[in-house]
This record gives sequence, C-alpha cells and structure tokens, in this order.
Amino acid sequence: MLIDEIRNDFPILKRKVNGKPLVYLDNAATSQKPKQVIDAIKNFYETQNANIHRGIHQLSEESTEAFERSREKVAKFISAKPEQIIFTKNTTESINTIAYGYGLKNIKKGDEILTTVMEHHSNFLPWQLVKKHTGATLKIADITDDGLLKMNHLEKLATKKTKLVAVTQVSNVLGTINPVKEISEIAQKNNSLFLVDGAQAAPHMPVDVKKTGCDFYAFSSHKMLGPTGIGVLYIKDPDKVDPFLVGGGTIKEVYTDKEAVWHDSPWKFEGGTPDVSGVIGFGATVDYLNKIGMEKIRKHEEEITKYALDKLLKIKNITIYGPMDHRLRGAVIAFNIGGIHPHDVAAILDSEGIAVRPGHACCKPLMSRLDILAMCRASFYIYNTKNEADVLVSGLEKVNKIFKR
Ligand SMILES: Cc1ncc(COP(=O)(O)O)c(C=O)c1O
Repeated sequence: MLIDEIRNDFPILKRKVNGKPLVYLDNAATSQKPKQVIDAIKNFYETQNANIHRGIHQLSEESTEAFERSREKVAKFISAKPEQIIFTKNTTESINTIAYGYGLKNIKKGDEILTTVMEHHSNFLPWQLVKKHTGATLKIADITDDGLLKMNHLEKLATKKTKLVAVTQVSNVLGTINPVKEISEIAQKNNSLFLVDGAQAAPHMPVDVKKTGCDFYAFSSHKMLGPTGIGVLYIKDPDKVDPFLVGGGTIKEVYTDKEAVWHDSPWKFEGGTPDVSGVIGFGATVDYLNKIGMEKIRKHEEEITKYALDKLLKIKNITIYGPMDHRLRGAVIAFNIGGIHPHDVAAILDSEGIAVRPGHACCKPLMSRLDILAMCRASFYIYNTKNEADVLVSGLEKVNKIFKR
C-alpha cells in the first residue's frame, strides 16, 4: 500500500489545526483510526448490538461470534492461542491484572521483582504496590548514557530470588528497543516469570510471544490504530493467575457456603460486560495492520526515524535522548531545546498545526535519571511522511527564532 492510500484511510488527517494542515506526531500517546475501524464499530451498533455470552437470541449470538473472532485474530497477530488472550481496558489494566492476580498472591517478603529505570509508570507503580503489600524488594536496572538498557547491570540484579522481571520492549521516551529475548533467557535461568510491556512495540513491529519467551505481554489497541478502551493481556499459563476483577461471566459455579469455581481462561479474567464494539473494532484493526504488514510498518518507521534524527540533530541547542542509531529505536524522538520549556515548544508547534507531547510522559524515574523535568516527544506512525518531519524541523527553527537563539 502506498502512503497516500494509507493516509486516505484516516479522515482526521484531512483536518486543519490553527489554519494549518494537521501534522500528528503524538502517536506514542494514541494513534489515529482508519475508516475501516470506525466503520466496523458503526456497523456493530447499527446492525448487531447485543450483550455477549448471555443471550441465545440471534443478535447476541452474532455479537458473541464477532467478539470471539476478534480474540482469534489478536491471538494469531502475536502467535498466541485464543485462551491466552484477555481483553482489558488498556496496557495499564493488563499489567495491574498480573500485579493483583499473580503478584499479591505469589510474591512474598524476601522475593525480588526486577524492572528498569526506563519504565512507564504503568509498568512501575504496580510493582511498587506489590512491594508495599508483600515486603518484596524492587530492583531497578539502569541505562547507559546513550539510553540503552545496561544488560550487565540487569543480569547482575537478577537472582534466584527474582520472582518476576518486568521490562518494556520499547521505551516511550528514549525509543530504545530492548533485547527481550535475551532478557527472557536471563529470567528463565533464574526461574523468574517475565512480563513484557508491549505498549510501544506491538503497534510498530512484528511480535511473537513464543519466540520472545515471555510469560505475560501487555498492549493497548488505541496506540495501534484501534479504538480506545481495549487492552490486551497475553498470559502463557492462565492457571498461574487468579482473576482480579470478579463478577458476572467469571464463574462456573457460585455457592452461598463455599468458594466460587472460576470459569476457564479467558473468561475468568473478563468480569462484567466488556466493550463489545471496541473489541470488534480492534478485530478490524488487526485486519488493517495485517493488510499493510508489520514488517513494512517497521521499515517505514525506521526510514522516517533516521530521516528525522539526521535533520533534528542539526537544530541549534537541541538535545535528543536515546540511542542515535535508528535501528536500535522505535519511531519515538524525545528532545529538549536549550533552556526552553517543553510546554512553550509544544505550544509554538501547535500554532503550526504540529501535535507533539511535552512533559514527563509518565516516566518520572527516567526523567530523574536523565536529570530533566520534562521533554518534548515527536512520535511517528505508518501514515507520517518525511515532509511532516520537515515541517517539524521548520517548527523547531521557529521556536529558536522566537526565543532568539
Ligand atoms: C511503554 C508504555 N507502557 C504503558 C503505557 C500505558 O498505556 P495505556 O495508557 O494504554 O494503559 C504507555 C502509554 O503511553 C506506554 O507508552
């Protein structure tokens, strides 16, 4: 598919912002949606809407079938089995499901949890919570000055006491792609479980949970062209995890005088009415991504990241965080310009129709490690063009001019 054809699928890319064509570079926060996904959701409400797994009437059966078909598509997308795929609200809820359903039950005082300093708060705070409630130790692997994970440090911190290793596959600030296969081997050597935060990886590159060798993999539909409100949690062995949100749909039997018997996975984890339209929309998203091809998406983003990095590095007073080799990073470029506050930078870019993210990007421990309070982040996706990278560069030159640098 040509980039013009792809762009044509995204109605929002035709709009103007502050009188300028929209240049949407906030994809790490959330992506835009193609009309195929919007239509799938609209079609569900117009022709099929019913609750699932409950009724025996035609609409309910059709909705249930479409919902479960989405699960099969998602499973195939990451080389898993449908019963290993749990639909949640987002990556945050997926990781919390493991913290509550596995961590609080199985991790004890004297045990260790190992994570890194580059984690998003969603893969950091749940482990601080488990530490607080269980008395376990939380160990944090450091990064090098060019934003790579210090593998020798991580390996040194991993011990036989490590119950769980929790690492992001791609940093949402540094862009760093972590060697998850290697980390999984370290975890396996110590008999530790391995959780991968795939929020910034699954949208942008092929994912194979079997090859990765992880026990848990979490990601969000909204960052990969799909609807908001849908997250995915892959659990290799669902029997190891208890449901964390119990209620309707999670049981086989309920008694008044003894404990309930849980349903099989995935249903034991999906209490209450789910976002049926969202899951069906996410099925259409997976079809859309497959039609383009994840290898192709990765290649496009590598090209655009290299192009943007080369140009951005020429901007006066710019500091770019993370590895400079585009092959080692995802399509995320975080930067600061001299002493100019990232909010001022983002506001000036916004006046040019360019959407970027200023702030700490939910990575306060990483901000401290980089010795900054905040940064600006431009993040690309399959519909972004080199021309848009040029518009970003011109916008940043304007920032320098306004601040007379
Ligand atoms: C690396 C990473 N992990 C987790 C999350 C949380 O995702 P969500 O807000 O969809 O739960 C994000 C969101 O930006 C992220 O970038």
